[in-house]
Amino acid sequence: MSKDQQLRMQAKQEEEKNKSIVEQDPYRLQYHIMPPVGLLNDPNGFIEWGGKYHLFYQWMPFKTDHGAKFWGHYSSVDLVNWTHEEIALTPSEEYEKNGCYSGSAIEHEGNLFAFYTGNVKDDQGNRETYQCLAVSEDGIHFEKRGPVVKLPDGYTPHFRDPKVWKDGDKYLMVVGAQTEDLKGAVALLESDNLLEWNHKGILAGGGSGKLSDFGYMFECPDLFSLDGSDVLVFSPQGLEPQGIHYQNVYQAGYVTGTFHSESGTYDHGDFEELDRGFDFYAPQTTLDSKGRRLMFAWMSVPDQDEQEHPTIKHKWLHNMTIPRELKMIDSKVYQLPVEELKLLRTGDASVQQVKLTEKDVKISGVSGKSVELLLENVETEGWFDICFGGAARLVYSPEQKLLTLERESYVSGITENRQCKVDNLSSLHVYLDTSSVEIFVNGGEHTFTARFYPHPDNDTIYFGAETSAEFRLLKWNLA
Ligand code: FRU
Repeated sequence: MSKDQQLRMQAKQEEEKNKSIVEQDPYRLQYHIMPPVGLLNDPNGFIEWGGKYHLFYQWMPFKTDHGAKFWGHYSSVDLVNWTHEEIALTPSEEYEKNGCYSGSAIEHEGNLFAFYTGNVKDDQGNRETYQCLAVSEDGIHFEKRGPVVKLPDGYTPHFRDPKVWKDGDKYLMVVGAQTEDLKGAVALLESDNLLEWNHKGILAGGGSGKLSDFGYMFECPDLFSLDGSDVLVFSPQGLEPQGIHYQNVYQAGYVTGTFHSESGTYDHGDFEELDRGFDFYAPQTTLDSKGRRLMFAWMSVPDQDEQEHPTIKHKWLHNMTIPRELKMIDSKVYQLPVEELKLLRTGDASVQQVKLTEKDVKISGVSGKSVELLLENVETEGWFDICFGGAARLVYSPEQKLLTLERESYVSGITENRQCKVDNLSSLHVYLDTSSVEIFVNGGEHTFTARFYPHPDNDTIYFGAETSAEFRLLKWNLA
């Protein structure tokens, strides 16, 4: 049996062995993408191809921890109902023996071309990195073509996560990198045929420009145009917290500007965080046939607390965000839940005009673990809050112009928070799913994404106002 067959068989056995314990977890989600067993991290190879959306993902089937990653695979016709497909890639070859790390997919001459990082480590932990290609005719089975990019000069082996796209009659690739003087950077490569690649230089970061001293590593870069602006999304590591900014151990965000593909240069503005919650990292986008720029992100961050999640007892860890559509509004990237998520609604909305004048109010019919809430025309005097399952709380202070998400830490039980400046809160769109919450503020201008762990019997949603709060409330049950 080949190493590849062996790894596939072992993953299948692991899945079967743990199926019932995974399914019995009260914190298992209803409508988010999760691993069948083990750990999930980055979205990979996100593409609409052959009439379906394909979302591959970083998967460690054998434990709820990081290691030699596989590419797991989900497919869907509507971004809502997902089928778990056969494993796309196993780390079976020498050039990827410590993991088929993150990457992207592109269609070429009717086939699906997947680019990913072959991660290799020796006994002393020294790294080698290979940007590899695997080709699929049916979108399910991949034939590995091996490394197509060797590490260019000037970088450490922290060089990974190729994102490839077509630009005129050429192909371009951005890769997350660290320069030899230990600065985070995005490398740009170019190819005529997807097989031979030339390093054009540093696109952003490294020793110059606005991101010249911006952490020690950029992971998962993604460059695309959105409503006339060129957006670079990436996940920098090594930023110090600055007030209410950069509160997570690693960040995920973007800059906008103008990309000149001939010269390979990029003029851009300052970094903006994409999400203001606790759990959001390594986002990846694709352009679909409807012309939408769609994005998934990993609903976690690589940190030392990952092993404290209670789902580990049930042999699984982490999930994706819901799919989001990106829009450029007033030079800012807005995120909106994709239209198709309406398919999750089990019936019509309950609609009511709410006026609160006290704390801890239960609104009739408004509770549940898998629900969508839309609060419109919000007017508030003094602070106003919503509590989810007694374990997470969103509070807006119009005096401070601050929106705060608090949760009970799953490590210490102590309340921790993340904040965002919101001058005028007009709407909140909330997707609650058992042990996750995603909040879209003012039509997607800001988002908060987080896992949290309410008592499994607690499906309450309470509202409160310091003085008074008024809004129109729509609520759907989701399944
Ligand atoms: C980001 C990341 C990538 C890498 C992958 C490994 O979370 O560290 O840089 O390719 O995860 O699983």
